[in-house]
Amino acid sequence: MSAFTLTRQLPVDATIAALRADATVGLTANPKWLPPKWFYDARGSELFEEITRLPEYYPTRAERAILERVAPDIAAATGARTLAELGSGSSEKTRLLIEALREHGTLQTYLPIDVSESALEQAGRALLADYPGLNVHGLVADFQAELSLPDSAAPRLLAFLGGTIGNLRPAERAAFLKTVRTALGPHDALLLGTDLVKDERVLVAAYDDAAGVTAEFNKNVLSVLNRELGADFDPDDFDHVALWDRDEEWMEMRLRARRPLGVKVPALDLKVDFARGEEIRTEVSAKFRQAGVRRELAAAGMELAEWWTDPQGRFALSLARPAR
Ligand code: SAH
Ligand code: AVI
Repeated sequence: MSAFTLTRQLPVDATIAALRADATVGLTANPKWLPPKWFYDARGSELFEEITRLPEYYPTRAERAILERVAPDIAAATGARTLAELGSGSSEKTRLLIEALREHGTLQTYLPIDVSESALEQAGRALLADYPGLNVHGLVADFQAELSLPDSAAPRLLAFLGGTIGNLRPAERAAFLKTVRTALGPHDALLLGTDLVKDERVLVAAYDDAAGVTAEFNKNVLSVLNRELGADFDPDDFDHVALWDRDEEWMEMRLRARRPLGVKVPALDLKVDFARGEEIRTEVSAKFRQAGVRRELAAAGMELAEWWTDPQGRFALSLARPAR
């Protein structure tokens, strides 16, 4: 018997309260900013999936190529009976892990964890249809706030794919990796996807595609503020900006006001003024090197056991374990 259950660890009113708090702080700050998790309403999740199919957006294809090659090795090395995944989205690439772990004969339960309920619903139902006998338990949760996984069989493999760790700032990453370490038992492992430092032109094209899908994804956060907080942002008042910060080694997305604006946010009792050219920083996407990944894992009490890249060296998958 297989089953799909969905648990909301993040009640709807807590989500709205968190959005209000983030928008209040971020839109009154100088420079203005918003956390990237607010991109992912149903439309934002769809737009991200569209991004993964763009010719310029290489990370999904590169990570898939690695998984196609090494998923059986990951299954053999971990023998995971539970696969938990943070920021699972459509769980499309995860199918390669699920199949390898089923082939290995160990996998019982898949726990996708995401803030996007629509993504979890869609992915969960599709997986259930394709993998009879698999228990799929989706969790609507913020992976930065908590990591309370339901009881499930060990050993567990915790996957964090797509390079989403790069959307956390360095201090957030350090705190997050410590939480991950606490969640791991002695025989559990972390599978971490990281995008790698590369030619600036390749990076900028990946975040500023010719078809304008990434621009629409970036502006989607304004639609979320309009719908949830009654704001009157007009996305056409903003330009999509994607730039490479070579000191921080991260891509950054911003929204730049095309003209002076006064935007009302009734739910916050706030009017937000923009000078012409003023920006909201909406996302960083850090790019990594092996030494940095190893160092950050070690600082959180984990050791790098395996490091795999795609043939062009664009993206890496790390297998990490609690340090002995
Ligand atoms: N892992 C997938 C999806 C990456 S997109 C892939 O590799 O293609 C990033 C995903 O993380 C989205 O589904 C988004 O909803 C989710 N996400 C972003 N911030 C989150 C947070 N703070 N907590 C939980 N999920 C989050
Ligand atoms: C989910 N995350 C890893 C994506 C990234 O590349 O940082 C989100 C994204 N932003 C713009 N395009 C895709």
